[in-house]
Amino acid sequence: MINSLGEKVTLNNGVQMPGVGFGTWHVRGRDVITSVSTALKAGYRMIDTAEHYKNEDLVGEAIRKSEMNRHKLFITTKLRNDDQGYEETLKAFDKSLKTLGLDYLDLYLIHWPVTGKFKDSWRAMEHLYRQGKVRAIGVSNFNPHHIEELLEDAKIRPAINQIEFHPLLSQAPLRVYCAEQNIQVEGYSPLGTGTVLKNPSIMNIAEAHDKTAAQVILRWHVQHGIITIPRSTNPEHAISNVDIFDFKLSADEMEKIDALNENRRNNNDPEGF
Ligand SMILES: NC(=O)c1ccc[n+]([C@@H]2O[C@H](COP(=O)([O-])OP(=O)(O)OC[C@H]3O[C@@H](n4cnc5c(N)ncnc54)[C@H](OP(=O)(O)O)[C@@H]3O)[C@@H](O)[C@H]2O)c1
Repeated sequence: MINSLGEKVTLNNGVQMPGVGFGTWHVRGRDVITSVSTALKAGYRMIDTAEHYKNEDLVGEAIRKSEMNRHKLFITTKLRNDDQGYEETLKAFDKSLKTLGLDYLDLYLIHWPVTGKFKDSWRAMEHLYRQGKVRAIGVSNFNPHHIEELLEDAKIRPAINQIEFHPLLSQAPLRVYCAEQNIQVEGYSPLGTGTVLKNPSIMNIAEAHDKTAAQVILRWHVQHGIITIPRSTNPEHAISNVDIFDFKLSADEMEKIDALNENRRNNNDPEGF
């Protein structure tokens, strides 16, 4: 359970990561500057980007413009599929760091489990971690068998598995597996990329609490102890999406939202890589 916007989750290497962050997928051009600036002013301290999003440069610019102390921020980026492999990962990391204009990263993730490559990528991530260039390393879109394969040779356990997680894809077995492995789950596309916001059950619960559907869904994330990274280029939405710490969903309401699961993905199936 994450109880406030400032609350941090302790990862398996002791690093503290904010429980709520700001997503930047599909955010391009000046929207990156305005939305990341709005998010930082609203109290978000974690920003999620990726080489694949083609906005690391502008995310970096927004961070510099904020004049916030770098150590108060938590910045995540991800290794692109085409950059997987040992040497390729080392190069891609340096490029991302340079594009962001940072001298260290808080979290570096393997974006997708590219078959035959992700173990070499992981060795490179371990090297970067040992060099102190990144505070935590993890994976994204990994199913249990991918993690098992990675752990065969890994010296360092992934701190995070960032997976698609929303009411229509609640991934209960994978969450149980990650908890057993001491790997923190971070949920991406928390609002189902916008597709879950008109769900009648969620709208009923929202009305009962005088909250929006988005606030109810994000509250469901934090009550499950899942790190969440909603995205919005609408300042009102971005601000209201973190106003979720003044109400509580009952056990019955949590169960009702859990029961909406349809194993329905908006993003790719990790088995296709
Ligand atoms: N690791 C991976 O493979 C992976 C994959 C996908 C995403 N991610 C990460 O997860 C982040 C979030 O996922 P996502 O980008 O798919 O989307 P999301 O956060 O699930 O949903 C964003 C959509 O919801 C709308 N929205 C947000 N707040 C709202 C509100 N209060 N009321 C009404 N509409 C609202 C946004 O529109 P407005 O802008 O108009 O508010 C946008 O269309 C990404 O940005 C990215 O950082 C990671």
